[in-house]
Amino acid sequence: MNRRRFINLFLGGSFFATIAAFLYPVINYILPPKQAEAVQKKVAAAKVGDLAPNAAKIFKFGSSPAVLINTQEGKLLAFSAVCTHLTCTVTYEADTGTLYCPCHNGRFDLSGSVISGPPPRPLEAYDVEVVGDDIFVSKKA
Ligand code: FES
Repeated sequence: MNRRRFINLFLGGSFFATIAAFLYPVINYILPPKQAEAVQKKVAAAKVGDLAPNAAKIFKFGSSPAVLINTQEGKLLAFSAVCTHLTCTVTYEADTGTLYCPCHNGRFDLSGSVISGPPPRPLEAYDVEVVGDDIFVSKKA
């Protein structure tokens, strides 16, 4: 191998290595991961006594926010906190007893139904179960 051929191989290899280093992260970003995200069906949302009457708590249900509400009557309710309009996080408004989305003034009642605003569908309701000191929230079967 003469010097000219060695230089050509070295520069050509460097060029392809540079292109590969640029394309690899771009392709990884564009292509979806091979393994789907694990679907969580049940989480411990709070401890009994954590929530005063007419109060709520946002917690993580898998990778999404959810809201656990202790109503004025002491009934525990849970919903996905992801607004069905453009996925903003809804919060519980104690003074109105409703779930409110601040992005476009969406409002839901305590059955998850839309009261006002642009959300096209009700919030996803979850089952709530008290086991010992823990409050578990799970997807409806
Ligand atoms: S995102 Fe909730 S009302 Fe628009």
